[in-house]
Amino acid sequence: MRSFLAWFLTAAALVACGDDGGSTDPDAAPIDAAIVDADPTDAGFVAPTLLSETGLYSDIGTKAIAAGVIEYAPRWELWSDAAVKRRWIQLPAGTQIDTSDMDFWSFPTGTKFWKEFSRGGARIETRLLQKIGTIDDVSSWHMVAFQWDLAETDATAVPGGVVDDTGVNDIPDRAKCRQCHGPTRNPAIVLGFQALQLDHDAPANGLDLAQLVAADTLTVEPTADGNGVFFPFPVETGTPVVLPAVGYLHANCGGCHNHRSEVAMNTVPLQLRLRTESTYRTTWAATPTYSTVVNVPVTLVSSTGSHLVKPMDTAESEIFLRMDTVLGFKMPPVGREQIDPAAVAAVQLWINVLPVN
Ligand code: HEC
Ligand code: HEC
Repeated sequence: MRSFLAWFLTAAALVACGDDGGSTDPDAAPIDAAIVDADPTDAGFVAPTLLSETGLYSDIGTKAIAAGVIEYAPRWELWSDAAVKRRWIQLPAGTQIDTSDMDFWSFPTGTKFWKEFSRGGARIETRLLQKIGTIDDVSSWHMVAFQWDLAETDATAVPGGVVDDTGVNDIPDRAKCRQCHGPTRNPAIVLGFQALQLDHDAPANGLDLAQLVAADTLTVEPTADGNGVFFPFPVETGTPVVLPAVGYLHANCGGCHNHRSEVAMNTVPLQLRLRTESTYRTTWAATPTYSTVVNVPVTLVSSTGSHLVKPMDTAESEIFLRMDTVLGFKMPPVGREQIDPAAVAAVQLWINVLPVN
């Protein structure tokens, strides 16, 4: 709590609005290829070319984080080929997050998020999401990755991405950012800083939902139960098997496969994003992950399993097959070049305890 309140007292007001330059991405991948930057609407926004210009650090040499920038972690992470990741948020002073849709928060203009990727103790890239406009669209969110130099003195913007022939260190271009952080996938644009991902007791007094509520940061405040949980799921006896699996799918798949996504609405039926409303939480069967996936037949010809999930049968469960591969039909389709062995095991465990009807 203390660190979070200090954030509000010290946060510097940020003034940055408009669009980010209007360039198209030459390497646009097939999905969402049509999404390009809108024309510049405000020449006042100058896209930063160095990470040191973005306000993350007060001293990039010593890696001292600037006042008003707060570190956080989602309770379920996106798998990024075993990279170690750190994340930070900065809200403009005195602003609130619009939580009138509790599942898809809308952030005030000026909000910045950073995510840093390291391997073997070395910083590879740091990604920036900065809200420069007022609506939650691609023209309002500046998205870019910065590649660190070898001595880690600074990182340089790489809007066209970086392809690393050695494998896992690819840096996505801006079109790939939007395949996941795009309004046709997720109206919030921001994917990890959300109610269900922060509804945990963050270690070391870290930023969590209880702190956001206590600091009056949310326009609509959820209420915690007697255990301090805001959006409880069914309690499992013994070692939890269901929540780790559906939580992983929420974080790694729900950004695209959700009830507000064009993917879910128009192409494939599956919804892997959990929902805050109690009707979708009181039983496991009521969660979208069960109601749209378990015993539901696949729809695509590229799917080789018979069902999205077939209880006790991973060989016929398409979500399992697409997690357990690096071939063309892998899921997620971008951002992953290696299988996540722990997640494959967790999802297998879950499928193998599902009752066969
Ligand atoms: C494979 C889909 C995917 C791609 C591609 C992707 N991201 Fe993300 N990103 C996510 C998910 C999911 C999260 C939340 C989970 C986490 O942080 O582990 C996230 C989190 C973030 C965050 C922290 C704020 C938030 O949304 O929770 C930033 C900043 C970010 N991404 C920037 C970028 C930028 C910039 C690019 C392109 C250079 C990019 N991302 C590409 C899926 C993706
Ligand atoms: C970046 C957005 C994105 C993410 C993240 C994503 N998917 Fe998909 N998924 C798609 C799209 C688009 C399709 C349909 C076209 C295709 O197959 O490429 C699809 C199709 C599927 C299908 C085929 C459904 C059918 O009816 O045949 C399955 C199963 C699936 N995804 C599972 C997953 C799982 C499991 C995850 C997480 C581990 C995931 N997806 C993450 C975009 C995504």
